[in-house]
Amino acid sequence: MDERIISRDAQVADDWQYSLRPRRLSEYIGQDKVKQNLSVFVKAALTRREALDHVLLYGPPGLGKTTLAGIIANELGVNFKQTSGPAIERAGDLAAILTNLQPRDVLFIDEIHRLSRQIEEILYSAMEDFALDIIIGKGAGARSIRLDISPFTLIGATTKAGSLSPPLRDRFGVISRLEYYSPEALIEIITRAADILNIPIEINGAREIARRSRGTPRIANRLLKRVRDFAQVENSSTITDEIADRALLALEVDSVGLDHTDRRLLDAMIHKFGGRPVGLDTLAAAISETRETIEDIYEPYLLQLGFIMRTPRGRIVTEAGYRHMGANFPKADNQPTLFDFE
Ligand code: ADE
Repeated sequence: MDERIISRDAQVADDWQYSLRPRRLSEYIGQDKVKQNLSVFVKAALTRREALDHVLLYGPPGLGKTTLAGIIANELGVNFKQTSGPAIERAGDLAAILTNLQPRDVLFIDEIHRLSRQIEEILYSAMEDFALDIIIGKGAGARSIRLDISPFTLIGATTKAGSLSPPLRDRFGVISRLEYYSPEALIEIITRAADILNIPIEINGAREIARRSRGTPRIANRLLKRVRDFAQVENSSTITDEIADRALLALEVDSVGLDHTDRRLLDAMIHKFGGRPVGLDTLAAAISETRETIEDIYEPYLLQLGFIMRTPRGRIVTEAGYRHMGANFPKADNQPTLFDFE
């Protein structure tokens, strides 16, 4: 099978083992509600010896959707096949994946909102009836045959549940939203990763990294590795809050985890557009990022911090956002015309 379309069989599963990713639900920190529910559904499916119902995981990037999907497969004791929406270009790609599944296997499709319409339609009968409808021939002689496939669990992941077509969304029996992690959960994740990587770290060092990781384990683990580099070069045996602070300043990660691009974005909204509501496309052009990058990566955390707001007329910076950027919040009468429409 094409490596680009489907990955993580035996070889990649080995890498998984040596990475920081937890393999069992009991090792997975945070997302307690999602974890509790999934543990019930997994147990029930195991007892019935049935495939687990299809699961949709959604939420901002880096919160552990792929990790959780891998854990579900491990807990079910089945194979984990991984692909992504954009990788499946032709109907034949999906048919090859589906017909190779063993009973109760997990098929993980990342960025499921990027599947083409045609591929989505094949998934409907696969998910609902565990069957593939294949058209043979062309024109008047064309006929459709139905091919049975093994009962399986589809786990879809998306940063945008709203972009999923309703017929696809309706076919998931479990829909779980992953939330940004609390600082306490991130401290635990950082301490666990430091332990696996053999990096001595003080609790205050872990707290400092956690505070600046935007509620996101992927960022926490990346920052931990970079702070380790600073500690190593400075011949410090243990990561303290002081080393973490110095390293993160050098990396341009500020006290609440905003990076260079977040600050450019706020700066453009405050200074270039004078605090008036700004449309996404205008903002994207102003800071040379794509609309999608702003929408998927930067905006959710700025919204979560309460530094920006979405209004029907565009995005605006809040008073807290102004304060964080050291700028004066404009008076109420200075309200604005719209730069562009969404
Ligand atoms: N590493 C990354 N995410 C994690 C999580 N949620 N729990 C434990 N370790 C992690």
